Amino acid sequence: MCGIVGYIGSRPAAPLLLDALKRLEYRGYDSAGIVTLTDKFNVKKDSGKIAEIDSRLDLADLPGTCGLGHTRWATHGKPSQRNAHPHVDSFGRVAVVHNGIIENYLEIKQELKKRGFTFRSDTDTEVIPNLISFYLSRKLSPEQAVRRALSQLEGSFALGILIRDNPDKLIAARKESPLIVGLGKNEMFIASDIPAILPYTKRVIVMHDEDLAVLFSRALIIRNLKSWRRTVRKPTLVKWTLEMAEKGGYPHFTIKEIYEQPAAIRETLRSSPAEISRLAALLLRSKRFYMVACGTSYHAALVGKYALAKLADYQSEVVISSEFQESCRASAGTTVLAITQSGETADTLKAVRVAKASGAKIACLTNVIGSSITRESDVVCHTHAGPEISVVATKTFAAQVAFLLRLAIETARCKRTITSSQARQLMVELQELPKVVERVLRSTERPVRELAQKLKDVEHIYLISRGIGYPTVLEGALKLKEITYIHSEALPAGELKHGTLALIEPGTAVIALIPPGDARSRMIGNVEEVKARGAWVIGLTDADADVGAHVDWLITLPRTRELFSPLLYITPLQLLAYHTTVLRGQDPDRPRSLAKSVTVE
Ligand code: AGP
Repeated sequence: MCGIVGYIGSRPAAPLLLDALKRLEYRGYDSAGIVTLTDKFNVKKDSGKIAEIDSRLDLADLPGTCGLGHTRWATHGKPSQRNAHPHVDSFGRVAVVHNGIIENYLEIKQELKKRGFTFRSDTDTEVIPNLISFYLSRKLSPEQAVRRALSQLEGSFALGILIRDNPDKLIAARKESPLIVGLGKNEMFIASDIPAILPYTKRVIVMHDEDLAVLFSRALIIRNLKSWRRTVRKPTLVKWTLEMAEKGGYPHFTIKEIYEQPAAIRETLRSSPAEISRLAALLLRSKRFYMVACGTSYHAALVGKYALAKLADYQSEVVISSEFQESCRASAGTTVLAITQSGETADTLKAVRVAKASGAKIACLTNVIGSSITRESDVVCHTHAGPEISVVATKTFAAQVAFLLRLAIETARCKRTITSSQARQLMVELQELPKVVERVLRSTERPVRELAQKLKDVEHIYLISRGIGYPTVLEGALKLKEITYIHSEALPAGELKHGTLALIEPGTAVIALIPPGDARSRMIGNVEEVKARGAWVIGLTDADADVGAHVDWLITLPRTRELFSPLLYITPLQLLAYHTTVLRGQDPDRPRSLAKSVTVE
């Protein structure tokens, strides 16, 4: 997720763009840049945080009253000066800033190279200005050149575009990545998000998918990229404060990021297939395969373990990073996959270095391109959840699970434990999940908020499930612990009789996650087991299951494949942790004693 801004009017553009970019840093901050247009493009850009770059380059010192700005969260190509946006085509005709992922950029890049275009960066974005430039050279108008170029792109984009020979206009377009237009007095703005332009205008038009907007300082034309029909959109008046705007109107980053999970899953499923096939091939060549991780990432790794076993009949071992050195032996032929959203967790980095010293191959799955773990790894894989601001991991968990399910499908296909058509069918279903998660968020928010009223003062919550539901309740318990500070403990339901049952008293809260699959009847037995001791049982299950008579509070979800259930069932547990925290008068974004990235052992 990156932040883009644009300005066309009568004021100096660069200082205004710099100011706007600073309010988008929560969207990405590994590099940044600004371009303004006079009779040529004037570009300043570099890697690093905006303040660091500005102290080196003085970003506001650029001429011109029309320009674009960008703050980057790298998806293709590590953070560096040459990969920073804006990108200008090799003939200096077009400048672009982009938020999104272009899936087919490699084939477009090859094609453009054959036509004499050269490339300076490793990014997917750089094909866009060059493709537009190609169509300009074919004498198309700026708008038509943009339209033709964008019709060839597969993936997502929010774009700001400047054409050197047309300084009177700024072009913008969006497909699946957010983009708004701000209407000022004799000046116009574009931005990824409202906070960027709130000090300059509260009159905003939210662009729709396939919109192309042409901004002049005093006029705006919006057309549909496909039909080319002009549409008139009424501006809305934004009533948010700046702080509310940075949270997208949500009261906290935690709830905002819970609701960003569908997009995090969608973008991660869209990420490079090459990473998946390279990792699957490495797994199949390995004599022993470990996944090492901490906290939420550890729970995602457990989902991966279940999926690899069920689909690919592939045995893997999941180890808490800080325990790896004590309990595991690696050697040549061992592969260790480090799962860490920050890429900076000291325990995981240590485990990887210990394994590497024993000759193991290292792979990593991280949400931060260029993070420390990537420099320790032979194979680097990414989730695409965008920056996660809240201390609690939510959308990065969903992205990690989505990636690991995709890895299990590919590993199973290569091992022929499933056919290629079965693999394709599973991917089709997996790509449908973001929409299902959106439905679950909407349908469970209200019952969960009511449930939070009942749980906000309890001292203990126990969470039980079986199979792939077990890592899901582990993650749910961690969410509850981290931000409500209520003692929450997850365990395999079959373990109750081996000790924990002694703690169940009249009124003890037990959340029973009853996912689809053949463990359902045994789960009902476990529910009866705790009910018999007076527990107050909350059931999470799909609408077809007949468990209502066994539980005191029921939350139903859409039916889904057992393997995919963690992506659905975790959301009511995240919402429960969030709402219970707010009812307890605590700040979910900044839980006591915890850090977003634990860079000490
Ligand atoms: C999860 O909500 C916590 N923030 C924490 O457990 C976290 O998952 C853990 O520290 C691992 O972080 P990483 O994924 O960046 O390595």
